[in-house]
Amino acid sequence: MTDWTALIRDVPDYPKPGILFKDITPILADHAAFTQVVDELGDGLAFDKVVGIEARGFILAAPVAYRSGAGFVPVRKKGKLPADTYEASYDLEYGSATIEVHADAFDPGDRVLIVDDVLATGGTARAAVELVKRTGAQIVAVSFLMELSFLSGRDRLPGLDVRTLLTV
Ligand code: PRP
Ligand code: MG
Repeated sequence: MTDWTALIRDVPDYPKPGILFKDITPILADHAAFTQVVDELGDGLAFDKVVGIEARGFILAAPVAYRSGAGFVPVRKKGKLPADTYEASYDLEYGSATIEVHADAFDPGDRVLIVDDVLATGGTARAAVELVKRTGAQIVAVSFLMELSFLSGRDRLPGLDVRTLLTV
C-alpha cells in the first residue's frame, strides 16, 4: 500500500494570494496511488451509475465506473451537453455557476454514486445532488478524495451518505 496522501502537493498562493491549493496531479501520475484512490472511492457500495462533476471529478469518476461495471454520467458546466438537460446553479465567491445533466441520463431505479475530487464549500456537490434528484434517480453516496473540513461543505449535504478518503 502506498501512502497516497503524501502525494498531495500544497501549492501556496494559487489561484490567488493567501490560498493554499491542494494539487492531486502527483496522485494521478502514480499508478499505485491512483489505483488505490479509485478502489476506495466506490468501496463497499452498490451502484448502477457514477456521476463525475466536470472537470476534476471526471478523472476519478470514470475509472470508478469502469472498475465497478457501472455506467458513467457527466455533470457538465452549462452549455456543454447537447441534448435536453436539467440545470442547477450555485454561488461562487463572485457571481454564480451553473451545471447540467442530461435529463435522460438515468434509467428508472438507477442507484447513483456521485464522485468529485474535493469537498470545499459544498456548493458544487449540492447542485449535483439537486440535478440527480431532479431526474428521479436514487443517490447512494457522494464520495470525495478530499474534504476541506474548515469550509463545512458537509453541512450542505444533509441526509446523504457523504464519504471522504481524506479530511484536511
Ligand atoms: C473545484 C473542485 C470541486 C469544487 C469544490 O472545482 O474540483 O469540484 O471546486 O468546491 P465547492 O465545494 O466549494 O463547490 P472547480 O469548479 O474549481 O474546477 P474544476 O473544473 O477544475 O473541477
Ligand atoms: Mg471541480
